[in-house]
Parts: sequence; C-alpha cells; structure tokens
Amino acid sequence: PETIAIIGAMDVEIEKLLPDIQNRQEVTLRGHIYHTGTLCGQNVVVTRSGVGKVNAAVTTTELIKEFHVDSLIFTGIAGGVSPQVSPSDVVISTALVQHDVDLTTFGLQPGLLNGFSDRHFYADQRLINIAVLAAHEVVGEDNVHLGIIATGDQFMADRQGVRNVYEEYQAMAVEMEGAAVAQVAFLYNKPLVVIRTISDKADGTAHLDYHQMKASTAHNSSGITLKMLAMM
Ligand code: ADE
Repeated sequence: PETIAIIGAMDVEIEKLLPDIQNRQEVTLRGHIYHTGTLCGQNVVVTRSGVGKVNAAVTTTELIKEFHVDSLIFTGIAGGVSPQVSPSDVVISTALVQHDVDLTTFGLQPGLLNGFSDRHFYADQRLINIAVLAAHEVVGEDNVHLGIIATGDQFMADRQGVRNVYEEYQAMAVEMEGAAVAQVAFLYNKPLVVIRTISDKADGTAHLDYHQMKASTAHNSSGITLKMLAMM
C-alpha cells in the first residue's frame, strides 16, 4: 500500500491530525519530528516543515529519501490573490510557481529557473480530483477554487505586490512553501497536491486577518486532508 506524506509549515496546520494517528511513532531527523502511523486507514508520515522554501524542500527530500513516501499532500493557509477568492475559501493547486524567482536579466520569464522548460510545477490529477471532492464536502462547491498557487519567501502584505503576482502569474493564492515542495516532487516524480484555505487577502491588513483567521482556516485544510485520506 502507498505511504502518504502530509506536510504543514506550522504546528497549527498539522495539530488536528496528530491525535488521530494510530500506532503513532515519532522519528526525529535533523531536528525535525516525523509522525508515522495510520490515519483514516492510510499509511502516513505527518510533519511540520517550518516556514519557507528551504525548510519545505529539505523536509520533502527527507520524506522521499528516508521515509519512501509515494505521494505528498501539503495542507495549510494562504493569502488570497485572485479577486475571485475570499477568506475561508479553499484553493486546490493545479500548479505551483515561485513568484520570487527572477532571472529576467538573462532573458528568462519571471518565475522560470535555469534548466527548466516551464515555470509551473504541476499537481497530480488524481490527488486534485480527490481533494476537490473532499473540499466540496467540507465547505461546499461555491467556496472551492482550482488554480495556480504562487510561492515565495515573503509574507505578502501589500496591495500592489499582490496585484503584481496576480497579473504575472494569474495565481489564486500566495504562500511560502508549495512550489518548493512541488519542485522536489517533480524531480523525484512523486505526485503532489496542495490544499490551502485563505486566511487573509495579502494586503495592508493581512497580518491582522492572519492572526484572527489562522487557526480556523488551518484546521479547515487539515479537515479536508482527513476526508481525502478516507476517500483514497
Ligand atoms: N500565508 C498566509 N497568508 C499569507 C500571505 N499574505 N503571504 C504569504 N503567505 C501567507
């Protein structure tokens, strides 16, 4: 049977999952705790990556190389970028892009890294389909969006910055890990989906909304993740 990695950047993004893991064991690797066991009948490894692209990339590499996971689910919160999305809505990734990558000086498209032919790292269609069904059950069809998620090593909290990300990448949401996980998953040919509930609009009041909304929106995404596992 497959082993599924579940990653959140912060405690609040995975805390709802941990008590339900059966035969739970904790393995610490390079200062990181990995929780193994079964969850909703699936073999899982649940971990907190820490915030940002490097933390996410290191954790994903460990999950693949040390824990031999077959597929990856990232669960968490994000800032809303598209005018279509509001706080508490759910965004399921179709593709991920690094909005802080800029080699335009050398004639590369914004977000495109040397050696790659596409700035997007695509999510897996099977996992997308299951995530969408699970999200529909939790928040209703009208509050679920499928689209591009933009990642960068910055908490976005200004209207012009977020507008630029929307215009350049047509992103639905912005966060700090997804595309790093997706790049590693692509290199190892592992299927991935990212589930993000919107906590703020990445504008001038983002930090206030974020604090107010982060627990409920993080728990919303982990609830969708649990439903997904039950459907797999
Ligand atoms: N995660 C939640 N809100 C965010 C924002 N505004 N920018 C980056 N990551 C986020």
